Amino acid sequence: LSDDGVAIRVAEPRDLEAVMALWGVARSAHAVTVDRTEDVARLIAEHPGTLLVAQVADEVIGAVVAAWDGWRGNIYRLAVHPSHRRRGIGMQLIRAGEESLRRRGARRVTALVAHDDAVAGALWDAAGYPVDSEIGRRVRDL
Ligand SMILES: CC(C)(COP(=O)(O)OP(=O)(O)OC[C@H]1O[C@@H](n2cnc3c(N)ncnc32)[C@H](O)[C@@H]1OP(=O)(O)O)[C@@H](O)C(=O)NCCC(=O)NCCS
Repeated sequence: LSDDGVAIRVAEPRDLEAVMALWGVARSAHAVTVDRTEDVARLIAEHPGTLLVAQVADEVIGAVVAAWDGWRGNIYRLAVHPSHRRRGIGMQLIRAGEESLRRRGARRVTALVAHDDAVAGALWDAAGYPVDSEIGRRVRDL
């Protein structure tokens, strides 16, 4: 628990509904993958420690996925509830995700950030993640 009463912790099955509700009001306008409860349940069950949440009192007000694929770290789905923004919670979630990835062996982290999202861009700049001008992203739906 930090001084401001924010606890960053690993998500548990009981957090499922709260995380879905949070992403319902706070996910990036650029995110396109539909949030499905069964996917989040599987993430928590099969990859414990990958989904982190920020809690104030007994409320989940932030979340992030810090995924380790055995080679590289990937951070995405970062969201902080609108009424708790600009208090450093997004940054705390990023740092906690980095710490978790470092423990699992990661030495490099990729963050998915929309090109024209000024707020998210400012946050990732502040966190020390410059835009990679060499490598872009290619995607395909399965
Ligand atoms: C992006 C988001 C997670 C930021 O969360 P947050 O808790 O408000 O961020 P923080 O308070 O930790 O901000 C840390 C720094 O990021 C930058 N920043 C954050 N929000 C900003 C804003 N609205 N405008 C400009 N800079 C901003 C600032 O440098 C800030 O430091 P400062 O407050 O000392 O100036 C939040 O706005 C959000 O959930 N947005 C919707 C979902 C989204 O876009 N997610 C990003 C996916 S990549």
